[in-house]
Amino acid sequence: MKIDVLLGLQWGDEGKGKVVDFLAPEYKVVARFQGGPNAGHTLEFDGIKHVLHQIPSGIFRPDIINIIGNGVVLDAVVLRREIEGLKKYGIDASKNLIISKKAQLILPTHRLMDAASEKAKGVSKIGSTLKGIGPTYADKIARQGLRVGDLLLPDFQKRYETLRDKHMNVLAFYNEPVELAEAEAAFFEAIEYIKQCRFADTEYLINNYIKEGKGILAEGAQGSLLDIDFGSYPYVTSSNTMAAGACTGLGIAPASVGEVYGIFKAYCTRVGSGPFPTELHDETGERMRKEGNEFGSTTGRPRRCGWMDLPALRYAIMLNGVTQLFMMKADVLNIFDEIKVCTHYKLPDGTTSEELPFDMDAVEVTPVYKTLPGWSQSLKGITKYDELPQALLDYVAYLEQQLNVPINIISTGPDRTQTIIRKKIKEII
Ligand code: GDP
Ligand code: IMO
Ligand code: MG
Repeated sequence: MKIDVLLGLQWGDEGKGKVVDFLAPEYKVVARFQGGPNAGHTLEFDGIKHVLHQIPSGIFRPDIINIIGNGVVLDAVVLRREIEGLKKYGIDASKNLIISKKAQLILPTHRLMDAASEKAKGVSKIGSTLKGIGPTYADKIARQGLRVGDLLLPDFQKRYETLRDKHMNVLAFYNEPVELAEAEAAFFEAIEYIKQCRFADTEYLINNYIKEGKGILAEGAQGSLLDIDFGSYPYVTSSNTMAAGACTGLGIAPASVGEVYGIFKAYCTRVGSGPFPTELHDETGERMRKEGNEFGSTTGRPRRCGWMDLPALRYAIMLNGVTQLFMMKADVLNIFDEIKVCTHYKLPDGTTSEELPFDMDAVEVTPVYKTLPGWSQSLKGITKYDELPQALLDYVAYLEQQLNVPINIISTGPDRTQTIIRKKIKEII
């Protein structure tokens, strides 16, 4: 049995949470492999909307094991809030949640450093979610981070203080007033609280599950265009958001990866700073934002909106080896008579390119569009692929022909039930 990986192909918020929740019954295990509380994964069913930040999106299925992998950066305070929040829906997350001992801990000072660094950058700020993601991954790479397993060590307090004091020096450099007492107290309370969860060397567990033939779905966070190596650097997040990240973030061999499900919106959005070639600064963009309710699940910030960008999507498909595509939020385009798709870019020197330039921020590319007819009708109540409006079927056919990967799910609304399967995704496990 191989691990299937599900990830976002754009700038995040593609609808990963919805699809993981939808596919979860086909699996025994759902595992997050990178990111942390910067993620906001929305699930909707029975008229209730849930937003998960660190807990994998299989948590509403009590028979599924949910793993927070070693590649994740974990905020204990946020986790505590998430576990408590789920209780009112009868979910005891601590029962089927396992946390890697090797996941890195986000300290209160990591969040402060994130905020101070962003403030110091001024207009060139990344637009970080201010959850401490960058500084925590920086400490991991600098080999000085604290890990979940360290919580159980007798000298954890001392290790914490050593790192905190280093951080205080950094904060002094930024000349920021530091008020830590309250956040520190909440951190230590949360640390005690999360000890009710099972901590494990999850790489052993996962590889044993593979041997036992248990189906595993790896849940990506953020999106490929925010990847630390291949995203629009420096306007990226601090982890590898790609399929390869599932190997390092869970401890599995590349040969263990099976299907790679690539999730994309029928258009594009981005939250935070950085290049976005097809961004619409006009009324069309406003309409997209309103119709798609494009406001961040984690920060509430308005998301920037624009048309589909084929060079960017092709790039993400290439980097991830996507085997199946799922198109989300098709219903948001119901309101448009015409739909545009960027087929290639025009560069400042007049030449054209289907590739993303090295320095997308400095090189202003002009998208060249193909216009397709819209379907101008509601998709409510449609449950079968063949019953979708012809113009939408044509849009899907055009994208498939351009991308060379089958589009097997079309999502027509936020609810679990508003999901149209075109072809069977996988034999039932
Ligand atoms: P994620 O981070 O990839 O899990 O995505 P988010 O949850 O941050 O953002 C996706 C948003 O779109 C959420 O509010 C979802 O409820 C919503 N959503 C997901 N699929 C659809 C869809 O097909 N149509 C519409 N209208 N909304 C959707
Ligand atoms: P999900 O998993 C959309 C963006 C931030 C910022 C940049 C760096 O819900 O798709 P960070 O806090 O990671 O240092 O911010 O990345 N970003 C996301 N945008 N969806 C996300 O997650 C994101 N996580 C981070 O807006 O531009
Ligand atoms: Mg999100």
